Formats: sequence, structure tokens, C-alpha cells
Amino acid sequence: MKAKILSIGCDHAAYNLKQKLIPYLQEKGWEIIDVGTDSPESCDYPVFANRVCENIQNGVCDLGILICGTGIGMSMAANKHHGIRAAVCSDTFSARATRLHNNANVLCFGERVVGYGLACELLDAFLDTAFEGGKHQKRIDLLTEIEQKQI
Ligand code: RB5
Repeated sequence: MKAKILSIGCDHAAYNLKQKLIPYLQEKGWEIIDVGTDSPESCDYPVFANRVCENIQNGVCDLGILICGTGIGMSMAANKHHGIRAAVCSDTFSARATRLHNNANVLCFGERVVGYGLACELLDAFLDTAFEGGKHQKRIDLLTEIEQKQI
């Protein structure tokens, strides 16, 4: 893992939650690259998913956080990117398991689904857990193989 650097993005539906989570993450020692959106004005979530994923693909950071109304659109957009394993989670068991078993590098959730308190717990579960490796690495390699068959 590189330095504690995270890229975070959201759409209008999650602007308020993103603004509240940034100081929470900074207090935990994370340097935050905020790719927007920068207001509650209507916008398109794939734009911000793309920016966070490009930061990971370009080696600027290892992990990203994407928030929209449900987290679903963000996860769909993120998972179109090579090398990105995005998981939409609304419980801490899944947020932890997706690091342990799937080596997820992007956590997605929805402001219309989770409140601030649960969002903080999801972040803690995700960010404080490392990939377990072992038998799970082979499965990640198979995911990568699927990806490489695509253009
Ligand atoms: C915006 O209304 C909403 O569709 C978006 O934030 C997200 O939930 C899409 O998956």
C-alpha cells in the first residue's frame, strides 16, 4: 500500500455526505483527493467514477470511495475500468469481506441508503482491512483474465 492517499468522488445525491466524510477521513490520517462533484447541482455519476478510477489506474492512490444515491450506479461505472474492483456495501461485514476476499479497491455506497454514522463504519471496515491473498488470489487472477478478454 502506498501512502495513505484516497480518491473520493460523488454525484449531487451524495454531495452532503461526501463533504461530511472528508474531515472524518482526514482525522484518520488520510490525504484526500476530492474529484467532485462540488455542489448539490444535478450531475452525472459516471464522470466522477471515471476520475477516481483513473487516479487508481495512474498510481496516484490505491483505493477510492464513490458515493451516489444508492452506490449502484457508481459501482457499475467503476467496474467498467480495467484493474478496478468496486463493491457497493451497506453493511460492515461486506465492507470488510470485500477487502479480505475480493481485494476490492473501490468502496461504493449510497447517501439515500446509509446515514453518516454507518458510512463512517463502512469506511473503517474497508480501510482497516487488508487482502487475505492465498486461495483468493487465484480468483482475482480469474477476474483479471475476464477483464483482459474485453477490449
Ligand atoms: C441520482 O438521482 C441517482 O440516480 C444516482 O445518484 C445513483 O443512485 C445512481 O445509481
